[in-house]
Amino acid sequence: MLTLDFFITRFDRALRTLAAPAQAHRVSPARALPNTELTPEQKKHTARLMRINHTGEVCAQALYQGQALTARVAANREALVAAAREEEDHLAWCEERIQELGGRTSFLNPLWYAGSLTLGVVAGIAGDKWNLAFLKETERQVESHLAAHLESVPESDQRTRAIVSQMKTDEAGHADLAQSLGAAEFPQLIKTAMRLSAKAMTQTVYWV
Ligand SMILES: [Fe+2]
Ligand SMILES: [Fe+2]
Repeated sequence: MLTLDFFITRFDRALRTLAAPAQAHRVSPARALPNTELTPEQKKHTARLMRINHTGEVCAQALYQGQALTARVAANREALVAAAREEEDHLAWCEERIQELGGRTSFLNPLWYAGSLTLGVVAGIAGDKWNLAFLKETERQVESHLAAHLESVPESDQRTRAIVSQMKTDEAGHADLAQSLGAAEFPQLIKTAMRLSAKAMTQTVYWV
């Protein structure tokens, strides 16, 4: 049942995602590795890539919030909580690495959060299998996007690479989870539309 309490809790979650430092449940994979010397250009470029990944993780928070709002099958909801916790780790790790690199997060995060929440809720209204289809396709696209980042992050930046690699592994697991919970498969047209909007997001966030 959607009570006032329920909405207050969601609003509180949104504020915490956007305004408070994220709390990790697992130690960042970067911590075990040396902070290698990078040129100012390498630092700037990598901080911008991590800003994109951070915004992606803000969207993931909204997406999983949307799942919680609309998932009809309680067992699905519970299974997704574990994945959502991993997304909180990603958010915290990205934040930490951006700080180390002397960068900043995107000014537009509230906008991306609201957009993702809306899309997640719309997919959820269509039913659990479409909600999960949206999640699965998002995770697959994020996974290939992170693979592209691994091509672009300097070889010497072991800390950033460790974070991006672990995120990539986790996102693949989330896509498999959505599949195992009964995700439908989107038509190619929707996948392409999602890829294009993600491209617009990543290209904007690289700069702002
Ligand atoms: Fe993530
Ligand atoms: Fe994920």
